[in-house]
Amino acid sequence: MGQIDAPIAVFDSGLGGVSVLREMRKIMPGEDFYYYGDSLNAPYGTKTLYEVRKLTIAHTRDFIEMGAKGVVVACNTATSAAVRTLREMYPQLPLVGIEPAVKPAVEAFPHGRILVMATPMTIREEKLHKLIERFAGEAEVIPLACPGLMDFVEAGNIDSPEIYGFLRDILHPYKGNLDAVVLGCTHYPFVQKTIQEVLGEKVQIFDGGEGTAKEIKRRLSVAGLLQNNAQRKGEIIYKNSDNSQEKEALFWKLLNY
Ligand code: DGL
Repeated sequence: MGQIDAPIAVFDSGLGGVSVLREMRKIMPGEDFYYYGDSLNAPYGTKTLYEVRKLTIAHTRDFIEMGAKGVVVACNTATSAAVRTLREMYPQLPLVGIEPAVKPAVEAFPHGRILVMATPMTIREEKLHKLIERFAGEAEVIPLACPGLMDFVEAGNIDSPEIYGFLRDILHPYKGNLDAVVLGCTHYPFVQKTIQEVLGEKVQIFDGGEGTAKEIKRRLSVAGLLQNNAQRKGEIIYKNSDNSQEKEALFWKLLNY
């Protein structure tokens, strides 16, 4: 088990997890974070369940060997593929996997029409189907696989006519008939503004980053692993399987976006 001074490991298939990291940093400014992006193997959302599970388990093993005091799977796709297995493997570890924020969206819009945007794997997997079934009588929850969307963010293309055109095309059938959108992939908050522009101001957008940050904070607190020096300023350590300077520059840009 990690020590109080150890970092919290945060992991995504690429840079999407930065949308979760920024929420964690807001509520735990004194903590150190080790961010690992697997951009070399991205996207995960179009891989097989087996491949994503294998990669996620291997990364988590590295974080534990490194001494991380907690692990956040800041990738909905990796959560649906591996989080149950990881919990069985490491029952003592404070471990949280992000999942689509369907519950808060249904609570805000009972009987509403709610679109869940996510990767093809998240949309296919049992975890989301169970979540949708759970709320079946309360709201209409519509899954939408968005292959290709994360690639825009991964390339730093977050505000351009191309991304607008892409989103306008895939969201066209839902324009004017939705109450809410759930961003079920951690890359999507970076294009939230454009999604809002395409669908209009009335549609409310939900993302699971804040809930995930609160949950890991709670788990670390229960384990007695939260830093207790209020003056402490935490550090962020960045690592990526794609070592390029462009990726690193984009990481810092997105963190402060
Ligand atoms: N950011 C990831 C997620 O939350 C997936 C992107 C991908 O690798 O396909 O699902």
